[in-house]
Amino acid sequence: MQPNFLKEIQRWFDTYVDGFRGSDGKLAPLLQLKLEHSRRVAEDARGMACDMGWSAPDVNTAEAIGILHDVGRFSQYVEFKTLSDRHSINHAARSWDVVESEGVLAGVETTVGQSIRDAILHHNRIEIPAGVVQNSLPFVRLIRDADKLDIFRIFHDIVSSDRLGEHPELLLGVPLEGPANPELVNMIRAQRNVPFSMIKSLTDFKLIQLSWVYDIHYPPAFARIDQRNIIGKLESLLQPTPEALAVAALARSHVALRRRKPA
Ligand SMILES: [Fe+2]
Repeated sequence: MQPNFLKEIQRWFDTYVDGFRGSDGKLAPLLQLKLEHSRRVAEDARGMACDMGWSAPDVNTAEAIGILHDVGRFSQYVEFKTLSDRHSINHAARSWDVVESEGVLAGVETTVGQSIRDAILHHNRIEIPAGVVQNSLPFVRLIRDADKLDIFRIFHDIVSSDRLGEHPELLLGVPLEGPANPELVNMIRAQRNVPFSMIKSLTDFKLIQLSWVYDIHYPPAFARIDQRNIIGKLESLLQPTPEALAVAALARSHVALRRRKPA
């Protein structure tokens, strides 16, 4: 993607988001959070693509995907008064719909357009579905990594400042109290994907965040996890039980290993 087209997408996004501001010029707090999230994800996507030596057009495409990946959050929130996909719609599919109906990618090269659409659509799946075309795969992987990097940060900010009550969508309706689900701990230690249905407490939720390191793909994402002390921060939110310490130690050694070595 050429730099002038990236600028157009940035401009379109800002104007689109402005349409959700109140008469005081402000966004609802959860939408403000999503706006800042989108900008940080775009920055990380760009930074990681640069670190990997991607071409300038691909670096621009990576940034555009970061900007657009959650654009469906705005109409989702206005329509359903929630950011919980379980209680409304799949926000990735909504982002895709918005990008299509607004003609954001009209004029972009066909293969680049496909990569952007695929990355938006698959950014929040438990796993990347089989059958994603080769050209799109690097972008799908990159947005999933960049998105997780920022969710780690948001989750830590909210839990460490005791503001979970303001974000019920993060908790999926599980109670705040309670010990770790042993079955879930075993799955994380075996580096298996844990379905959200196994989350029975906030402790489980914190452990799941640590398990996300097994779904990170690119070395520059591992480098950022390390530099930002993400494992240490998530660990600090947990009661230091032997299970929790073991999960954190395994996650830490996985990050150390993978920041040096691609999959
Ligand atoms: Fe998302």
